[in-house]
Amino acid sequence: MALEQTLSIIKPDAVKRDLIGRILARFEAEGFRIVAAKMLHLSEAQAQGFYAEHEGKAFFAGLVDYMTSAPIMVTVLEKENAIGDYRTLIGATNPEEAAPGTIRRDFALSKTQNSVHGSDGPSSAEREIAYFFAESEICPRD
Ligand code: PPS
Repeated sequence: MALEQTLSIIKPDAVKRDLIGRILARFEAEGFRIVAAKMLHLSEAQAQGFYAEHEGKAFFAGLVDYMTSAPIMVTVLEKENAIGDYRTLIGATNPEEAAPGTIRRDFALSKTQNSVHGSDGPSSAEREIAYFFAESEICPRD
């Protein structure tokens, strides 16, 4: 199977509760390599652009408010089947529906404050990685 990359965001609720290290350790323990990383405090325009596919939904304004409420950490994670395996690791959007042992089940507070984001497929991974990182900021290892 080929190596894949996916975009991860450690969201404001997790950053505010000082969970960055514990969440990154979970990524590495599950075989993901962190090949790019940065902390950002999103502007309203950046959050709206990132979540543009949800524009018009009832939760959109609240999602943008939340994502701009504190810093986030964005990383690019690499492994075989990274996109699917990462979504399995984080669990369902709603922490009440997330499987035991998943990051959202363990840390998330609600459907909005759900601690982590992950790309939902190859085309969104490509778009989301390019949204935050220049190619020169991504450092794959062999
Ligand atoms: S949906 O309902 O299919 O659009 O949901 P999904 O694609 O799983 O994720 C939607 C993202 O918006 C965030 N969010 C909410 N989703 C559903 N309901 C409410 N009330 C809500 N509030 C915020 C949710 O956390 C998803 O964020 P990401 O970062 O994509 O996981």
